[in-house]
Amino acid sequence: MFYFRRKGWEVPDSQATDEAIFMSRRRFAKSLAAGSILATAAPAALIAGSGEALAKRVPLTVEGDPSADLYPVIRNPRYKFSREITPAEINASYNNFYEFGSHKSVWKAAQDLKTRPWMVKVDGMVEKPFDIAIDDLLKQVRLEERVYRHRCVEAWSMVVPWSGFPLADLVKLAKPLGKAKYVRFESFHDSGMASGQKAFWYPWPYTEGVTMAEAMNELPFMVTGAYGQPMAKQFGAPLRLALPWKYGFKHIKSIQRVTFTDQRPETFWEKLAAREYGFWANVNPEVTHPRWSQATERVLGSQERVPTQLYNGYGEFVASLYEGMKGEALFK
Ligand code: MTE
Repeated sequence: MFYFRRKGWEVPDSQATDEAIFMSRRRFAKSLAAGSILATAAPAALIAGSGEALAKRVPLTVEGDPSADLYPVIRNPRYKFSREITPAEINASYNNFYEFGSHKSVWKAAQDLKTRPWMVKVDGMVEKPFDIAIDDLLKQVRLEERVYRHRCVEAWSMVVPWSGFPLADLVKLAKPLGKAKYVRFESFHDSGMASGQKAFWYPWPYTEGVTMAEAMNELPFMVTGAYGQPMAKQFGAPLRLALPWKYGFKHIKSIQRVTFTDQRPETFWEKLAAREYGFWANVNPEVTHPRWSQATERVLGSQERVPTQLYNGYGEFVASLYEGMKGEALFK
């Protein structure tokens, strides 16, 4: 919706459906031209409470997931949240997962994602590269729950109880060499399974990256579950990243490869539209996106708009990572 009105996010959810239909007709041409993360309509009926039928159909976990017995896990109280947790049904029916389509109802198509067997390759500048099955990885880490705020670059937000383990623990398992400066993440690439990957104009597979200093910070979280269960496919099962002080496009889903490197990884959205989406992508209400303001955000599941916070409110944990970094575009 951001293509047609400068202040498109001010359209109330009650008007969103028409806009979505309009948008779907224009989406292909416009997204190609702008190379943009699209913002389509919120699940208005669901938010208004009239979407019970939909809520019942939306899977909130993966049926028969072999890790189900590991959940729920104990919540870590260190990470505070001031707003209410977003209802699971709302979160699970409003997603970005371009491998399965460029609209917000990808949850249906995402059920085609096959989450077992699932191997994760750890390679690059490490003592010894290895491949590990997700269920073996789960045996080597301690799971906990963290409730994190999630702020999408499209100016909507939610609060999610993720389960998982710190990225820093995965870094320790990987034993990187001293010369490694970045961690690069890669999602799966299988257009037979993921219909969205037939869209050849996207630079598949989805890739993301962080610096080693960021990776060793306490906040980055390797997510394996949500809402007390193995996470649903549309959340990026069986392994995704949560970086709560960065815009949501950094939170790469369905990770299959983790590479330690001395080269700054070029990311999926950077390749598509470097002017709009950068490597750092730290949340900052004062740095506008080229096409919309980042000053406020729409809280999914409510009619509220709230002020956006610098580093999405996580400055006490991460601001020091960026001290003295002059000349870097830290906020896009
Ligand atoms: N990871 C992959 N592999 N593919 C994607 O399309 N979208 C990103 C991110 N991770 C995306 C991805 C974007 S733009 C956002 S906002 C978040 O996932 C959305 O996560 P959610 O659907 O759980 O809210």
